[in-house]
Amino acid sequence: MLFDFGLLKTIWRETGTHPPFTRTPETDLVMNDEGSVLAYEKGGRPTGALAGAYLYHLAQMCALIKSGDLVLDLGCGPGNLLAQVAKLNPRAEFIGVDLSESMLALADLRFRQAEIPNVELQLADMTRLSQFGDASFDTIISSMALHHLPDISALECCFSEMGRVLRPNGRIYLNDFGRLKCRESVGYFVGRAAAGEEQALVDDYTQSLHAAFSKEEFEALVARYLQGRARVFSTIISPLTVVIKGGSSSPSLVPKRELDMIYRALPAPRKNDVQQLKLFLRLGGLPSAL
Ligand SMILES: C[S@@+](CC[C@H](N)C(=O)[O-])C[C@H]1O[C@@H](n2cnc3c(N)ncnc32)[C@H](O)[C@@H]1O
Repeated sequence: MLFDFGLLKTIWRETGTHPPFTRTPETDLVMNDEGSVLAYEKGGRPTGALAGAYLYHLAQMCALIKSGDLVLDLGCGPGNLLAQVAKLNPRAEFIGVDLSESMLALADLRFRQAEIPNVELQLADMTRLSQFGDASFDTIISSMALHHLPDISALECCFSEMGRVLRPNGRIYLNDFGRLKCRESVGYFVGRAAAGEEQALVDDYTQSLHAAFSKEEFEALVARYLQGRARVFSTIISPLTVVIKGGSSSPSLVPKRELDMIYRALPAPRKNDVQQLKLFLRLGGLPSAL
Protein backbone atom coordinates (compact mmCIF):
# COMPACT_ATOMS: atom_id res chain seq x y z
CA MET A 1 0.00 0.00 0.00
CA LEU A 2 1.62 3.30 -1.08
CA PHE A 3 -0.52 5.61 1.06
CA ASP A 4 -1.81 5.29 4.58
CA PHE A 5 -3.53 7.63 6.97
CA GLY A 6 -0.37 8.26 9.04
CA LEU A 7 1.48 9.20 5.89
CA LEU A 8 -1.22 11.65 4.86
CA LYS A 9 -1.14 13.25 8.32
CA THR A 10 2.65 13.49 8.12
CA ILE A 11 2.50 15.05 4.67
CA TRP A 12 -0.02 17.60 5.97
CA ARG A 13 2.30 18.44 8.92
CA GLU A 14 5.37 18.69 6.72
CA THR A 15 3.84 20.99 4.13
CA GLY A 16 3.89 23.93 6.56
CA THR A 17 6.18 26.82 5.76
CA HIS A 18 8.01 26.79 9.10
CA PRO A 19 11.71 25.79 9.12
CA PRO A 20 12.97 22.33 10.19
CA PHE A 21 13.19 21.63 13.95
CA THR A 22 16.52 22.19 15.72
CA ARG A 23 19.12 19.50 15.16
CA THR A 24 20.24 17.16 17.98
CA PRO A 25 23.56 15.46 17.14
CA GLU A 26 23.89 11.70 17.53
CA THR A 27 25.05 10.59 21.00
CA ASP A 28 27.16 7.88 19.35
CA LEU A 29 28.85 9.97 16.62
CA VAL A 30 31.40 7.32 15.81
CA MET A 31 29.46 4.07 16.19
CA ASN A 32 31.50 1.97 18.59
CA ASP A 33 28.85 0.82 21.05
CA GLU A 34 28.71 -2.96 20.58
CA GLY A 35 24.91 -3.26 20.87
CA SER A 36 24.19 -0.57 18.27
CA VAL A 37 26.90 -1.77 15.91
CA LEU A 38 25.51 -5.33 15.91
CA ALA A 39 21.89 -4.15 15.59
CA TYR A 40 22.86 -1.87 12.73
CA GLU A 41 24.71 -4.62 10.91
CA LYS A 42 21.72 -6.94 11.33
CA GLY A 43 19.36 -4.26 9.98
CA GLY A 44 21.49 -4.12 6.84
CA ARG A 45 21.21 -7.83 6.02
CA PRO A 46 19.28 -8.95 2.91
CA THR A 47 15.87 -8.98 4.64
CA GLY A 48 16.65 -6.39 7.36
CA ALA A 49 15.05 -3.00 7.94
CA LEU A 50 17.55 -1.20 5.70
CA ALA A 51 17.47 -3.69 2.82
CA GLY A 52 14.93 -1.82 0.68
CA ALA A 53 16.74 1.51 0.97
CA TYR A 54 20.06 -0.20 0.24
CA LEU A 55 18.67 -1.71 -2.95
CA TYR A 56 17.39 1.63 -4.21
CA HIS A 57 20.75 3.34 -3.58
CA LEU A 58 22.74 0.34 -4.81
CA ALA A 59 21.08 0.67 -8.23
CA GLN A 60 21.84 4.41 -8.33
CA MET A 61 25.48 3.85 -7.39
CA CYS A 62 25.90 1.08 -9.96
CA ALA A 63 24.55 3.40 -12.67
CA LEU A 64 27.45 5.80 -11.98
CA ILE A 65 30.42 3.48 -11.35
CA LYS A 66 32.55 2.53 -14.34
CA SER A 67 35.05 -0.22 -14.88
CA GLY A 68 38.48 0.92 -13.67
CA ASP A 69 37.08 3.53 -11.26
CA LEU A 70 38.67 4.24 -7.90
CA VAL A 71 35.72 4.77 -5.56
CA LEU A 72 35.72 6.29 -2.07
CA ASP A 73 32.96 5.31 0.40
CA LEU A 74 32.65 7.75 3.33
CA GLY A 75 31.45 6.22 6.60
CA CYS A 76 31.19 2.70 5.19
CA GLY A 77 30.13 1.20 8.55
CA PRO A 78 29.87 -2.62 8.63
CA GLY A 79 30.05 -2.69 4.84
CA ASN A 80 26.65 -4.27 4.06
CA LEU A 81 26.02 -1.84 1.21
CA LEU A 82 29.65 -1.45 0.18
CA ALA A 83 29.91 -5.24 -0.19
CA GLN A 84 26.96 -5.25 -2.58
CA VAL A 85 28.34 -2.36 -4.63
CA ALA A 86 31.84 -3.86 -4.80
CA LYS A 87 30.54 -7.29 -5.77
CA LEU A 88 28.46 -5.87 -8.62
CA ASN A 89 31.39 -3.73 -9.81
CA PRO A 90 34.33 -6.16 -9.72
CA ARG A 91 36.46 -4.03 -12.07
CA ALA A 92 36.34 -0.98 -9.85
CA GLU A 93 38.50 -0.54 -6.73
CA PHE A 94 36.94 0.73 -3.51
CA ILE A 95 38.30 2.40 -0.40
CA GLY A 96 35.91 2.43 2.55
CA VAL A 97 36.68 4.81 5.41
CA ASP A 98 35.15 4.86 8.85
CA LEU A 99 36.24 6.10 12.28
CA SER A 100 34.79 3.13 14.14
CA GLU A 101 37.09 0.20 14.78
CA SER A 102 34.11 -2.04 15.61
CA MET A 103 32.38 -1.22 12.33
CA LEU A 104 35.57 -1.80 10.34
CA ALA A 105 36.17 -5.14 12.09
CA LEU A 106 32.71 -6.33 10.96
CA ALA A 107 33.31 -4.99 7.46
CA ASP A 108 36.69 -6.71 7.26
CA LEU A 109 35.16 -10.04 8.29
CA ARG A 110 32.38 -9.62 5.72
CA PHE A 111 34.79 -8.92 2.84
CA ARG A 112 37.05 -11.82 3.77
CA GLN A 113 34.18 -14.30 4.20
CA ALA A 114 32.52 -13.23 0.95
CA GLU A 115 35.91 -13.16 -0.82
CA ILE A 116 35.43 -9.64 -2.14
CA PRO A 117 38.94 -8.56 -3.09
CA ASN A 118 38.39 -5.06 -4.49
CA VAL A 119 37.83 -3.20 -1.21
CA GLU A 120 40.41 -1.62 1.09
CA LEU A 121 39.28 -0.40 4.51
CA GLN A 122 40.83 2.55 6.32
CA LEU A 123 40.31 3.88 9.82
CA ALA A 124 39.93 7.52 8.84
CA ASP A 125 37.90 10.67 9.38
CA MET A 126 35.71 11.74 6.48
CA THR A 127 36.29 15.39 7.39
CA ARG A 128 40.08 15.04 7.03
CA LEU A 129 41.21 13.12 3.97
CA SER A 130 44.80 14.38 3.76
CA GLN A 131 46.04 10.84 3.02
CA PHE A 132 44.44 11.22 -0.43
CA GLY A 133 45.76 13.53 -3.12
CA ASP A 134 43.74 16.12 -5.03
CA ALA A 135 41.50 14.65 -7.75
CA SER A 136 42.38 11.09 -6.75
CA PHE A 137 38.90 9.52 -6.97
CA ASP A 138 36.67 8.88 -9.96
CA THR A 139 33.60 8.40 -7.80
CA ILE A 140 32.59 9.17 -4.22
CA ILE A 141 29.73 7.37 -2.51
CA SER A 142 28.30 7.56 0.99
CA SER A 143 25.18 6.19 2.62
CA MET A 144 23.44 7.32 5.81
CA ALA A 145 26.69 8.62 7.28
CA LEU A 146 26.86 12.42 7.01
CA HIS A 147 24.34 12.99 9.82
CA HIS A 148 26.89 11.36 12.18
CA LEU A 149 29.06 14.49 11.94
CA PRO A 150 28.87 16.67 15.04
CA ASP A 151 27.95 20.00 13.46
CA ILE A 152 27.67 22.04 10.31
CA SER A 153 31.35 23.01 10.32
CA ALA A 154 32.34 19.32 10.30
CA LEU A 155 29.92 18.79 7.41
CA GLU A 156 31.54 21.74 5.64
CA CYS A 157 35.02 20.21 6.10
CA CYS A 158 33.70 16.96 4.63
CA PHE A 159 32.29 18.72 1.55
CA SER A 160 35.49 20.70 1.12
CA GLU A 161 37.47 17.45 1.18
CA MET A 162 35.08 15.78 -1.24
CA GLY A 163 35.45 18.70 -3.65
CA ARG A 164 39.24 18.35 -3.41
CA VAL A 165 39.68 14.57 -3.75
CA LEU A 166 37.06 14.07 -6.48
CA ARG A 167 38.50 14.45 -9.97
CA PRO A 168 37.01 17.32 -12.03
CA ASN A 169 34.60 15.16 -14.04
CA GLY A 170 34.13 12.71 -11.21
CA ARG A 171 30.81 11.21 -10.19
CA ILE A 172 29.19 11.36 -6.79
CA TYR A 173 26.25 9.71 -5.01
CA LEU A 174 25.57 10.48 -1.37
CA ASN A 175 22.39 9.59 0.43
CA ASP A 176 21.38 10.62 3.90
CA PHE A 177 18.37 11.71 5.89
CA GLY A 178 17.11 15.27 5.67
CA ARG A 179 15.78 17.09 8.71
CA LEU A 180 12.01 17.21 8.95
CA LYS A 181 9.88 20.16 10.01
CA CYS A 182 8.04 18.49 12.89
CA ARG A 183 9.37 16.16 15.55
CA GLU A 184 6.04 14.26 15.44
CA SER A 185 6.86 13.21 11.87
CA VAL A 186 9.97 11.39 13.16
CA GLY A 187 7.76 8.98 15.13
CA TYR A 188 5.69 8.16 12.05
CA PHE A 189 8.67 7.42 9.80
CA VAL A 190 10.49 5.39 12.47
CA GLY A 191 7.36 3.34 13.19
CA ARG A 192 6.88 2.57 9.51
CA ALA A 193 10.46 1.52 8.80
CA ALA A 194 11.49 -0.15 12.02
CA ALA A 195 8.32 -1.82 13.34
CA GLY A 196 9.25 -5.17 14.89
CA GLU A 197 12.98 -4.39 14.78
CA GLU A 198 15.31 -4.46 17.78
CA GLN A 199 14.98 -1.50 20.14
CA ALA A 200 18.61 -0.49 19.44
CA LEU A 201 17.78 -0.07 15.74
CA VAL A 202 14.59 1.85 16.50
CA ASP A 203 16.57 4.19 18.78
CA ASP A 204 19.30 4.54 16.18
CA TYR A 205 16.82 5.53 13.46
CA THR A 206 15.06 8.00 15.79
CA GLN A 207 18.39 9.63 16.68
CA SER A 208 19.39 9.73 13.02
CA LEU A 209 16.30 11.69 12.04
CA HIS A 210 16.92 14.15 14.88
CA ALA A 211 20.56 14.51 13.81
CA ALA A 212 19.88 14.99 10.10
CA PHE A 213 21.12 18.13 8.39
CA SER A 214 18.58 20.15 6.44
CA LYS A 215 18.20 20.06 2.68
CA GLU A 216 19.04 23.78 2.63
CA GLU A 217 22.33 23.12 4.47
CA PHE A 218 23.24 20.46 1.90
CA GLU A 219 22.31 22.79 -0.95
CA ALA A 220 24.53 25.57 0.39
CA LEU A 221 27.53 23.24 0.72
CA VAL A 222 27.02 21.67 -2.71
CA ALA A 223 26.86 25.16 -4.23
CA ARG A 224 30.09 26.07 -2.47
CA TYR A 225 32.22 22.94 -2.90
CA LEU A 226 30.67 20.91 -5.72
CA GLN A 227 29.28 23.69 -7.89
CA GLY A 228 28.23 22.40 -11.29
CA ARG A 229 29.31 18.89 -10.28
CA ALA A 230 26.35 17.73 -8.19
CA ARG A 231 22.72 18.49 -7.38
CA VAL A 232 20.61 17.91 -4.29
CA PHE A 233 17.40 15.90 -4.57
CA SER A 234 14.97 14.89 -1.88
CA THR A 235 11.78 12.95 -1.39
CA ILE A 236 8.96 15.29 -2.29
CA ILE A 237 7.16 17.26 0.45
CA SER A 238 9.33 16.04 3.34
CA PRO A 239 13.08 15.56 2.77
CA LEU A 240 13.20 12.27 4.68
CA THR A 241 15.78 11.08 2.16
CA VAL A 242 18.25 13.46 0.58
CA VAL A 243 20.44 12.46 -2.36
CA ILE A 244 23.40 14.41 -3.67
CA LYS A 245 24.20 13.21 -7.13
CA GLY A 246 26.65 14.29 -9.78
CA GLY A 247 27.61 12.79 -13.13
CA SER A 248 25.30 11.17 -15.61
CA SER A 249 23.91 7.72 -14.95
CA SER A 250 24.19 5.02 -17.59
CA PRO A 251 21.29 2.55 -17.47
CA SER A 252 23.55 0.05 -19.29
CA LEU A 253 25.80 -0.12 -16.18
CA VAL A 254 22.95 -1.33 -13.97
CA PRO A 255 22.98 -5.11 -13.42
CA LYS A 256 19.21 -5.49 -13.78
CA ARG A 257 19.05 -9.24 -13.32
CA GLU A 258 21.05 -9.25 -10.04
CA LEU A 259 19.09 -6.31 -8.66
CA ASP A 260 15.84 -7.95 -9.60
CA MET A 261 16.88 -11.07 -7.68
CA ILE A 262 17.64 -8.94 -4.60
CA TYR A 263 14.26 -7.23 -4.95
CA ARG A 264 12.36 -10.48 -5.23
CA ALA A 265 13.95 -11.78 -2.00
CA LEU A 266 12.85 -8.72 0.03
CA PRO A 267 9.98 -9.02 2.52
CA ALA A 268 6.84 -7.08 1.55
CA PRO A 269 7.49 -4.01 3.79
CA ARG A 270 10.97 -3.61 2.33
CA LYS A 271 9.62 -3.90 -1.23
CA ASN A 272 7.25 -1.13 -0.20
CA ASP A 273 10.26 0.97 0.93
CA VAL A 274 11.79 0.58 -2.54
CA GLN A 275 8.56 1.59 -4.26
CA GLN A 276 8.12 4.61 -1.99
CA LEU A 277 11.70 5.77 -2.55
CA LYS A 278 11.24 5.35 -6.30
CA LEU A 279 8.01 7.35 -6.26
CA PHE A 280 8.91 10.11 -3.79
CA LEU A 281 12.42 10.72 -5.15
CA ARG A 282 11.15 10.66 -8.75
CA LEU A 283 8.58 13.28 -7.77
CA GLY A 284 11.51 15.15 -6.20
CA GLY A 285 13.27 15.12 -9.60
CA LEU A 286 15.49 12.03 -9.35
CA PRO A 287 14.65 9.15 -11.69
CA SER A 288 15.18 5.67 -10.27
CA ALA A 289 17.89 3.40 -11.65
CA LEU A 290 15.83 0.29 -10.88
C1 LIG B 1 24.80 4.87 10.13
S1 LIG B 1 26.37 4.29 9.71
C2 LIG B 1 26.27 4.10 7.94
C3 LIG B 1 27.05 2.90 7.45
C4 LIG B 1 26.90 2.56 5.98
N1 LIG B 1 27.40 3.59 5.12
C5 LIG B 1 25.51 2.19 5.62
O1 LIG B 1 24.91 2.79 4.74
O2 LIG B 1 24.98 1.26 6.24
C6 LIG B 1 27.35 5.76 9.86
C7 LIG B 1 28.83 5.45 9.95
O3 LIG B 1 29.57 6.67 9.90
C8 LIG B 1 30.70 6.51 10.75
N2 LIG B 1 31.30 7.82 11.09
C9 LIG B 1 30.86 8.74 11.96
N3 LIG B 1 31.66 9.81 11.96
C10 LIG B 1 32.63 9.57 11.05
C11 LIG B 1 33.75 10.32 10.57
N4 LIG B 1 34.02 11.54 11.02
N5 LIG B 1 34.53 9.76 9.61
C12 LIG B 1 34.27 8.52 9.14
N6 LIG B 1 33.23 7.77 9.55
C13 LIG B 1 32.41 8.29 10.48
C14 LIG B 1 30.14 5.75 11.93
O4 LIG B 1 31.15 5.16 12.71
C15 LIG B 1 29.22 4.75 11.24
O5 LIG B 1 29.88 3.56 10.94
